[in-house]
Amino acid sequence: MKPGDRILDFGCGTGGYVIPLAEAVAPNGEVIAVDKNPDNLQEVKSRLTKYNPPGHVSIRKTDGRLHLKWIKDGSLDTALVFDILHVIDDWYTLFTEMRRVLRRDGILLVNPASLSHKGEVDVARLMTTLRTCGFIFEYSLVAKAWHYRQPSVEEIFVFKAD
Ligand SMILES: C[S@@+](CC[C@H](N)C(=O)[O-])C[C@H]1O[C@@H](n2cnc3c(N)ncnc32)[C@H](O)[C@@H]1O
Repeated sequence: MKPGDRILDFGCGTGGYVIPLAEAVAPNGEVIAVDKNPDNLQEVKSRLTKYNPPGHVSIRKTDGRLHLKWIKDGSLDTALVFDILHVIDDWYTLFTEMRRVLRRDGILLVNPASLSHKGEVDVARLMTTLRTCGFIFEYSLVAKAWHYRQPSVEEIFVFKAD
């Protein structure tokens, strides 16, 4: 991620990643933070007020549908799908939409599950679905993350839009 990038955080929750992302894409990039839960988005707004990061953040509440029609085809550099797959059944629609909004060679970062949901996500199914939807698996990494303000260590899968 670099200055000027446009990044989608799908299912951003209370926005633990939004502030660092907004710092990474400043001064002229954009973070699009999407969630269906208005309370979580209110918390994102509070964090933005508190930390006032450089870089533009757009907050969008959805109704839970996986189509993001207001985002143009191929207009994003990176998308995050972090710790949400355990509550979504239709991965095919989700990742088809991620492929649509990402530019070719754009990056999709997937955290299949936080520690509290480990084992609930079928990684083999994830790999197959992503290949079907037009993504190439690049590598996985182990990273420090935050889960409801608790530090944890998570595995992140990195895919490239084919
Ligand atoms: C466990 S939280 C993860 C939050 C954040 N991605 C993280 O890793 O810290 C899952 C979030 O996904 C949101 N969510 C679940 N289903 C969704 C859907 N269909 N569309 C948008 N957001 C959804 C929930 O409201 C919740 O905020």
